[in-house]
Amino acid sequence: MQKTRILVFGRIGQVGWELRHKLACLGHVTALEYPEIDFSMPDTIRAAVRAVQPAVLINAAAYTAVDKAESDPELAMAINGTAPGVIAEEAKRLGSLLVHYSTDYVFDGTKQQTYVEADAPNPVNVYGRSKLAGDEAIQAVGGEFLILRTSWVYGARGSNFLLTMLRLARERTELSIVDDQIGAPTSSECIAQATADILAQLLAPAGSGLCGRSGIYNLTNAGETSWYGFAKALLTLSAGTYGFKVPDLIPIDTCNYPRPAKRPANSRLSCQRLAETFGVIMPAWEDALALVLETLAEGASREKSQ
Ligand SMILES: NC(=O)c1ccc[n+]([C@@H]2O[C@H](COP(=O)([O-])OP(=O)(O)OC[C@H]3O[C@@H](n4cnc5c(N)ncnc54)[C@H](OP(=O)(O)O)[C@@H]3O)[C@@H](O)[C@H]2O)c1
Repeated sequence: MQKTRILVFGRIGQVGWELRHKLACLGHVTALEYPEIDFSMPDTIRAAVRAVQPAVLINAAAYTAVDKAESDPELAMAINGTAPGVIAEEAKRLGSLLVHYSTDYVFDGTKQQTYVEADAPNPVNVYGRSKLAGDEAIQAVGGEFLILRTSWVYGARGSNFLLTMLRLARERTELSIVDDQIGAPTSSECIAQATADILAQLLAPAGSGLCGRSGIYNLTNAGETSWYGFAKALLTLSAGTYGFKVPDLIPIDTCNYPRPAKRPANSRLSCQRLAETFGVIMPAWEDALALVLETLAEGASREKSQ
């Protein structure tokens, strides 16, 4: 039996890295990375898709430097806004399924409740606008697609809040952390696992494909906290492992931590649609955090014993 061909864009990003591991049982995975593919040059996307001819195309590549995007809007738009439309065209031409990741930053954060997929986006920064343009481009092309909106992504590798906090905890005795932005920290491993679970259903011999279920789905770990709450939890859990004293943590308001890009105050996304459609129930953020810290600690103790 021929293996399903799966093409992943973004091999070494947080989500892309985990995807390669989780998708291995579902088919033959080809994962490409910049500069093999360069999203600012759409021909490199077309050439890659035409060479691999995948049944499933997953886009985990993006311009994710939220603050830098404010002074680099053209490149952010080319990578996050234009490239996804090209990928969608290629997927549709092949009759392939496209999985793409989007963000809580398409919303302005003023809603009091959790955001559902049907809520009107209103991004407050360049990154959010560029990601929204990508979502809209995919929807305009049509075909079979899943846009999975996630938030506050972190993991055991890459560049993220958790790794930054672990570094700062060793360097400082006091840390001021924003406490008035609320969301769900979401582990890259959980995102990849959920993606694999959905694909396993769609690719099963008796699976019926998406069958009218193309669309946007929120996909975050369950529960909510602030950046301050996340920092407190991760530092408390890992201080013993790494032998540092938890710095004094000071909760502050966003206005006291000025950044080039404005952030939404409410980043909470309801994942009910995902659960009802695909039966995927995401773990609580605290449970996912414990697993990521366990992975990190295991890596650290292996390094020590070598
Ligand atoms: N990170 C978050 O907090 C967050 C929150 C919500 C949604 N998301 C979304 O989740 C998805 C995965 O994010 P992530 O955190 O895994 O991102 P990431 O770790 O920053 O990885 C992004 C990947 O895109 C690649 N890339 C950058 N510029 C490129 C270009 N011009 N052409 C081709 N590839 C390029 C990067 O390559 P290099 O490493 O070589 O630059 C990297 O492999 C993205 O769609 C992102 O928008 C992320």
